[in-house]
Amino acid sequence: MLIDGHGRVVDYLRISVTQRCNFRCKYCMPNTPFSWVPKENLLSFEELFMFIKVAIDEGIKKIRITGGEPLVRKDLDKFIKMISDYAPEIDLALTTNAYFLQNYAQLLKDSGLKRINVSLDTLDPKKAQQIAQKNVLHKVLLGIDKAIEVGLKAKINTVALKNINENELISLLEFAKSKNATIRYIEYMENTHANDELVGLKRDEILNIISQKYSIKEVGKLANSPSTMYEIDDGYKFGIIDPHKHDFCDSCNRIRLSAEGLLIPCLYFEEALSIKKALKDGNINAAVEILREVLRNKPEKNKWGTIAENEISSRAFYETGG
Ligand code: 5AD
Ligand code: SF4
Repeated sequence: MLIDGHGRVVDYLRISVTQRCNFRCKYCMPNTPFSWVPKENLLSFEELFMFIKVAIDEGIKKIRITGGEPLVRKDLDKFIKMISDYAPEIDLALTTNAYFLQNYAQLLKDSGLKRINVSLDTLDPKKAQQIAQKNVLHKVLLGIDKAIEVGLKAKINTVALKNINENELISLLEFAKSKNATIRYIEYMENTHANDELVGLKRDEILNIISQKYSIKEVGKLANSPSTMYEIDDGYKFGIIDPHKHDFCDSCNRIRLSAEGLLIPCLYFEEALSIKKALKDGNINAAVEILREVLRNKPEKNKWGTIAENEISSRAFYETGG
């Protein structure tokens, strides 16, 4: 079992397989052009898999593939199959913008993927273009339908943004409900790459908007999930992920691995250690030692709730996978 320096069991590994993305969401990417990490700096799927096997042996029970957009990396289905063949019982999930899902969903399902989280912030094509800086909505919606059709369980992630999608929170909830999917509203996490003008809605503001149409009852936090769940009149449940809340980190069970081999214990802070050399050398014991050290030093809590945002990590969400 993996336990961090604050006694929390860590059984959830998020792996960002690429920084690259075909979208430029305003809350994630800078406006100005920038260059990607060259492909040769990435760990290969074989190297990542070497680490994944011991991580599973050490107690990881859930793995999520993230990006950037994971589906822009070639052969992702083969990587998923490697993991699924090694540990069929693992809760194996993918976070995606859904743009390529229409053609990829069946292959992913056949490779052993169980669940997907799709980013969907609006049902208005113009707004989707404004957020992702590309005309994406049509393909995203086809992708979501296809994933559900092939039997992938789907959740919808919506970053709630003032003056952008605040008037759509209810229609997004109703959309998710109609697809039998859970929607989770995510509080915008301020970061140095995002567009300066963005203002996020906090949990109470989100609840106020939804309560204009539905009465809401808090259900509480699910085990192993960062979202607090709520139930509306007809029994439909939705979630809110509120990293600005003071006790958000108490139940943190996760660690992140970047495509370049950085083990990142917390999204908010800069601290991270690289297992790249250990994996390139085939020295898996060294990689596990580094994992243990990262867990020992995992911060107790983020500081999004305070005003001390000058401490925030300069690492981008497209690198850490959000
Ligand atoms: N704040 C909150 N969520 C974010 N994501 C990316 N950047 C941010 C941010 N600044 C989330 C989005 C997206 C997922 C990949 O990461 O929900 O769906
Ligand atoms: Fe791409 Fe996801 Fe970042 Fe949007 S949030 S730019 S889809 S990585």
